[in-house]
Amino acid sequence: MKRTGTLLLAAAMITPPITASAQKFDDLAKTPQMGWNSWNRFACNIDEKLIRETADAMVKTGLKDAGYQYINIDDCWHGARDAHGDIQPDPQRFPNGIKAVADYVHARGLKLGIYSDVGATTCGGRPGSRGHEYQDAQTYAAWGVDYLKYDWCDSKNINAVGAYTTMRDALRAANRPILFSICEWGDNKPWEWAPEVGHSWRTTGDIYPCWDCEMSHGSWSALGVLRILDKQAGLRKYSGPGHWNDMDMLEVGMGMSEIEDRAHFSIWAMMDSPLILGNDLRSMPAATHKIVANRAVIAINQDPLGVQALRFYNQGSVELWAKPMANDEWALMILNRGEAPLAYRYDWQQHSIGDDLSKRDADFKKTRYTWVDAWSGKTGDTAHRLDVTVPAHGVVLLRLKKQGDPT
Ligand code: GLA
Repeated sequence: MKRTGTLLLAAAMITPPITASAQKFDDLAKTPQMGWNSWNRFACNIDEKLIRETADAMVKTGLKDAGYQYINIDDCWHGARDAHGDIQPDPQRFPNGIKAVADYVHARGLKLGIYSDVGATTCGGRPGSRGHEYQDAQTYAAWGVDYLKYDWCDSKNINAVGAYTTMRDALRAANRPILFSICEWGDNKPWEWAPEVGHSWRTTGDIYPCWDCEMSHGSWSALGVLRILDKQAGLRKYSGPGHWNDMDMLEVGMGMSEIEDRAHFSIWAMMDSPLILGNDLRSMPAATHKIVANRAVIAINQDPLGVQALRFYNQGSVELWAKPMANDEWALMILNRGEAPLAYRYDWQQHSIGDDLSKRDADFKKTRYTWVDAWSGKTGDTAHRLDVTVPAHGVVLLRLKKQGDPT
């Protein structure tokens, strides 16, 4: 008996304990990930030249310095699997292979993302990772990939928790820190199980560049900005550093008005959604650049506290949203969903803000805050009533800083 015990102990010392499942990479996406993705503007019409030029544009336009980091190749980069089952890129579109593209992107201080799917085929009909999860994760790691968006097409009879956990474990086993972006459209309430599995999860189907519309694709509809916002109800408690509610990629510069684009960008910032640009960075109008490069708005999204905004008032077409931030700061967004400009008056003294989730409150009777308008640069303080005009389909976005006791 004694001898057996000693042998077992010796075996336990050389074999590391087998845990039920691996963990995701913990140090990634401590603030919502920022970057660009090919899908919204280019769909399947992508190649290595576009990816290289986009990386160059990210640097040249100053967007890298503003915080954007990932250059993400979406669907349709794939060719066939080879005789060993290893996935190959499309030889016409990526003749030099993905590793060469990753090297190019890395040389510019940026990171590369790629796309696959839980099913046998992706949404674009290319090979998915089903049955090849560990093999594909190793291939991505060998190529130097830093980010995987993992889609949910061809998923009939597939268990979502199992499929996404398998890929998480495969990425872990491949041993390269790859940000894992779950794209399951909210079908199986990923917010309930995905914080342990990925770094973000899509909460809805695909976005469409409109303020408040649905674009039918037959079996599913793409959603405008307000439709996506409304689907976030009840989800804020699941979001936080390393695990974000993903409201889908940005449509700034893709056809909405400047006012709507500003509101769209502000809403995504307030909601701690990943900021993944979807426009052509190589030919960006100045007006679009001004929106996506707005550091005051980006800083609200990248605030280290990582608490998603709370809607604390809504009536008719007006909504008030507040986001608790580090150092006792707050962001406040007045959203005008309606068709007419709104003259809005806000008496701070009458409307303190409290948030049960983060246990934070701003009592404007006791404490004076100064504010800066993130879009206009105007300033003011909470000792004086706020008098603003919020354009139709627009926002006013303020950042509040504690000033001290009122005098
Ligand atoms: C799905 C995803 C999109 C995009 C396409 C690619 O629709 O939700 O974001 O990746 O597939 O085919």
